[in-house]
Amino acid sequence: PAQDNVFKIGLILPMTGQQATTGRQIEAAARLWMAQNGDTVAGRKIQLIVRDDTSLPDQTRRLAQELVVNEKVNVLAGMGITPSALAVAPIATQSKTPLVVMAAATSSITEASPYIVRSSFTLPQVSVAMADWAPKNGIKTVVTLVSDYGPGLDAEKYFSERFAFNGGKVPEKLRVPLRNPDFAPFLQKVRDLKPDALFVFVPSGAGAAVMKQFGERGMDKAGIRLIGTGDVTDDDQLNDMGDVALGVVTSHHYSAFHPSPANKKFVAEFMKANKNLRPNFMAVGGYDGMRVIYEALKKSGGKGGGDALLAAMKGQIFESPRGPVFIDAQTRDIVQNVYLRKVEKKDGQLWNVEFDVIKDVKDPGKSK
Ligand code: DHB
Repeated sequence: PAQDNVFKIGLILPMTGQQATTGRQIEAAARLWMAQNGDTVAGRKIQLIVRDDTSLPDQTRRLAQELVVNEKVNVLAGMGITPSALAVAPIATQSKTPLVVMAAATSSITEASPYIVRSSFTLPQVSVAMADWAPKNGIKTVVTLVSDYGPGLDAEKYFSERFAFNGGKVPEKLRVPLRNPDFAPFLQKVRDLKPDALFVFVPSGAGAAVMKQFGERGMDKAGIRLIGTGDVTDDDQLNDMGDVALGVVTSHHYSAFHPSPANKKFVAEFMKANKNLRPNFMAVGGYDGMRVIYEALKKSGGKGGGDALLAAMKGQIFESPRGPVFIDAQTRDIVQNVYLRKVEKKDGQLWNVEFDVIKDVKDPGKSK
């Protein structure tokens, strides 16, 4: 096709380094979306340009600049971690290029540029449900342990404020570095404090290390429960975590075990296309982000201008593999169900099995 018939999506992801599983999941999901829905939309030939930022925000910014200026991409997408999304926000604004955030989940990201639309989730959105569940289930004291950056600070704040409001006590709030974290000294401290539960937020890919050290220190046997957002029982790693993960309760927007027909189809086709890799919440953020882009291109008549695309992204309502979702036109953030889930073994495999749902949850970070 002629060059100007091409519609370019610049997908910047961490494909190597500590956050590489996020990139692998999102790229695979984007390619699945295209395999299922074709690569021509409203007469335009879709070209996906994937770049590896190794999750270093200076690199994300440099790649975004290059994609906008040289490749003239119509849409920027991806953003494996919060600092990457924040680094690209000014470029989206200046160039009027929609930026679809598929992974990063700090509440404030959508406020960094009017061109940002989010298909992932926010930490306040998923943390409050756990703070409501825990005190009704025998958990009166909780120590929090979070990665020391945007999403961790959101999780800590929204969990602990709501938990205290519900009568719970948070004797200690621990923060562990994002890069090369050593959980051992923090877990030792939690063991000494003996709370009813430890609430954890770590980014996708770090959950297995936390779980392993939690088990090795015998914390479950010492009667300390592990709770958290579903990032810690990430479907990318869950099945290899072993029995220490059994019974762990988390709150999140997506489980690969979600029983809808749409999800069963998504999981089966994703696994078939990716050597049995189980999709996680990152994959769903990427898959739905592609849908938002395709629909916007269709609705705006295939012309591909940034402002028209952005307008057509706002207010979209559709059924995701996670359940019904909607892109709030005011905040450009995603409104979705939040599920309570417990790790159980089914046919020899570990899954996050949903047992309760809070419907249509908006990001509580936006209501202030
Ligand atoms: C972010 C990254 C993650 O891997 C995750 O699970 C949640 C949030 C982030 O950097 O925003």
